[in-house]
Amino acid sequence: MTALAERARAALDPVHWDFFAGGAGEERTLRANEEAFSRRRIVPRVLRGVGDRDLSTELFGTRLSMPVLVAPTAFHRLAHPAGEVGTAGAVAASDTVMVVSMAATQPVEDITATGAAVWFQLYPQPDDEFQRHVVKRAEAAGCRALVVTVDSPVFGRRERDRRNGFDDLPDGYTCENMRDGEGRVREIGFDPTLGWEHVHRLRASTGLPIVLKGVLHPADARLAVEHGVDGLIVSNHGGRQLDGAIATVDALPAIVRAVDGRIPVLVDGGVRRGADIAVALALGATAVLIGRPIIWGLAAGGPSGVRDVLEAFRDELDHVLTLAGAARPSDLTADQVA
Ligand code: FNR
Repeated sequence: MTALAERARAALDPVHWDFFAGGAGEERTLRANEEAFSRRRIVPRVLRGVGDRDLSTELFGTRLSMPVLVAPTAFHRLAHPAGEVGTAGAVAASDTVMVVSMAATQPVEDITATGAAVWFQLYPQPDDEFQRHVVKRAEAAGCRALVVTVDSPVFGRRERDRRNGFDDLPDGYTCENMRDGEGRVREIGFDPTLGWEHVHRLRASTGLPIVLKGVLHPADARLAVEHGVDGLIVSNHGGRQLDGAIATVDALPAIVRAVDGRIPVLVDGGVRRGADIAVALALGATAVLIGRPIIWGLAAGGPSGVRDVLEAFRDELDHVLTLAGAARPSDLTADQVA
């Protein structure tokens, strides 16, 4: 475990630590994500004049200072009282994007008020009218894209949470963005009957870019493009849904080939060092998202802890690019990964 994770563990209620750190089943996929990155080796290029580097990347009209986004993760107020608003403040200072979870513990309006660029994550809701209400609210708050998580037709079996009896937020906390028109907080719905028609309905109800999160099969990536989706996140939910699912960096190359440059492909799961980001970029990802390390930063140091994590990723990525002979993310090529 990293020193930062140790500090987070010491700061957290053990039940909440298990919620944040854990995965589904035996946690095979959780481990596989990190292991698959550790197995990759970078083949550097030399003498390429990389003194003048630029890490910035554009996604759906937003310029990010680096190809690193904050993944949607639930319940930030359980990690630190500053909650999602605190995380967003750090994201604004680092000039990147925060994907706000549908299970956020603060209102999306307060999160966007920090000035951070925000995308809103949505579990496809079976109640269409309620979903439209949530989407309109995210739009009105200034969110710039919708991230639709499609790897959760049912909720994953998280054995640590079952053992701990953790199945809901403690008193005094709520999923603030699950309020309906009357102000009542709804449960997040999971619905195994949903298909591509749900994406069509969503497409018809919003002008925001739609990014599907949780795609691992190249055939689904191709279908997503055909169904008018604007971006993909190759993800297995940080090993919290299907235990036994393929590691994300192993799934990435086939998806990049299937998409063939038509829409941006992002990836998350197990990204822990600058070298992991470089590998993902070389294999064709436009950017990566970071889940648990952001929570560890928040738990250990509040908003400035999140800032430190983001700046450490920036610093490491810049260093790795220099040593690998790339002045910008797009200079890395697939033949630089062994
Ligand atoms: C998540 N993730 C997640 N994804 C999502 O679409 N909606 C959500 O509400 C959550 N909540 C959530 C809570 C916690 C505690 C974790 C760890 C993860 C998945 C997340 O967006 C991302 O896919 C993974 O976290 C990426 O893996 P790493 O970086 O944590 O290894």
